[in-house]
Formats: sequence, structure tokens, C-alpha cells
Amino acid sequence: MIIAIDGPAGSGKSTVAKALAQELGLSFLDSGAMYRAVTLAVIEHDVDPMDAEGCARIARALSLEFDAQGRIQIDGRPGEPAIRSETVTKAVSAVSAHSEVRAAIVPQQRAEAVRRGGLVADGRDMGSVVFPQADYKFFLTASPEVRAKRRAHELHEQARFAEILADMQLRDHLDSSRKDSPLLCAPDAIPVETSSLDAQGVVRLLLARVRKDAKS
Ligand code: CDP
Repeated sequence: MIIAIDGPAGSGKSTVAKALAQELGLSFLDSGAMYRAVTLAVIEHDVDPMDAEGCARIARALSLEFDAQGRIQIDGRPGEPAIRSETVTKAVSAVSAHSEVRAAIVPQQRAEAVRRGGLVADGRDMGSVVFPQADYKFFLTASPEVRAKRRAHELHEQARFAEILADMQLRDHLDSSRKDSPLLCAPDAIPVETSSLDAQGVVRLLLARVRKDAKS
């Protein structure tokens, strides 16, 4: 089974996707971690994030794997926590907007789904581009303020709320307006507004949807 969970930053995708995967006995794929890994390597190699071919060369050369806990390994080394740094977060939308970069990453995501015999994948284009045949597609949303509050809490940086909100809105804009695989709710995805729900509430909702079909 393939379950695609897309949505903007801070919509709770990763938390929900991980919990849902565990409940259903499926594997979890953090597609954003792959773009963050490429971005980290781009920065480390002093490549300009706007240089499509330079970024693509890096993307093609990197070995990206996941450990048993689903954490990314870059050329055999743990990508966490470096891939979550502010520098990476600020550059990741530019790097991932290049079609040449996506062309290097998307086949690896599809290969993971085959290798693991199905998964719950979270990202921006899981339902719209990477897994159009997914059994379930969910699109999580929440107000920008709620999303920024969640992210600030996650990072233990509540004092930086305003800056996190501004960065997030810029990233949403870049991710939604790019030509290749923009952030959008696929026509056949189920929209889930999560502003007034906690992660458990969202997981319950998604599980109910999946289990309802299993019964009928
Ligand atoms: O956790 P958060 O929502 O902040 O971001 P992420 O899932 O780690 O993704 C980081 C960035 O990678 C996004 O802002 C997108 O620019 C890019 N991305 C993408 O282009 N396609 C995906 N399937 C996943 C992430």
C-alpha cells in the first residue's frame, strides 16, 4: 500500500506520516529529508543554490539511504541534525525547484517504495507526481500562524516565532509557485485542515478513513 501525505511546512506531515506508518505496519519515507540532504551537500561544496546544473551534479553523486528508524544517511553518515539547520532550511526551496535535481531524486523515491513493498511518504508532490497511483492521498493544511507555532515549539525556539513565520511563508510561496512539481492539493487528494487538531487527532482521522475501506 502507498499512502501519500503532502502539505506545507509545519502542517504536521512528518509526525502524522510516521505515526500512521507505525499503526499500519508500513515503512515511512521522509522525502523532504532527501532534498535537505542535497541542499546540505550543495552548501558544503560551495555551490550556488541557484545553479541548476551544479546542484544536479551534487544530487546525482550523493548516496542517500535510510536507517531502520527511517533517518537519512548521506554517503553513509547520519544527515540529522545538520539537514534541519536554518542555513539548509533557507536554501532548500531554491535547490529543490530545479527539475534536474528532482530528476535525480524522484526515481530513488519510487525505488524505495518498491524495495520496501509500500510506504507512507510525506512531502510536497508525493500524491501529485511521485506516486500518482497511491492508494490514499491526504493534503494537510493549517493556518500559517499555527504552523509557525508548531515549528517554533519543535525547534525549542519560541522566541524566534516571527522569523520562523516569515521564513515559512517565503518557503510556501517558493514551493507553490515553482514550475516543476509545485506544492498543491492533487484533485484526488483528501484535504485535511489540522489547525484545531493535535497530531493524534489527525492520525485518528486518517486511520479511520483507511480502515473504513478495509472493512467494506
Ligand atoms: O518539514 P518541512 O515541511 O519544513 O520541510 P521538508 O518536508 O523537510 O521539506 C523541505 C523542503 O524540501 C520543502 O520546503 C521543499 O522545498 C522541498 N521538498 C520538495 O520539493 N518536494 C518534496 N517532496 C519534499 C520536500
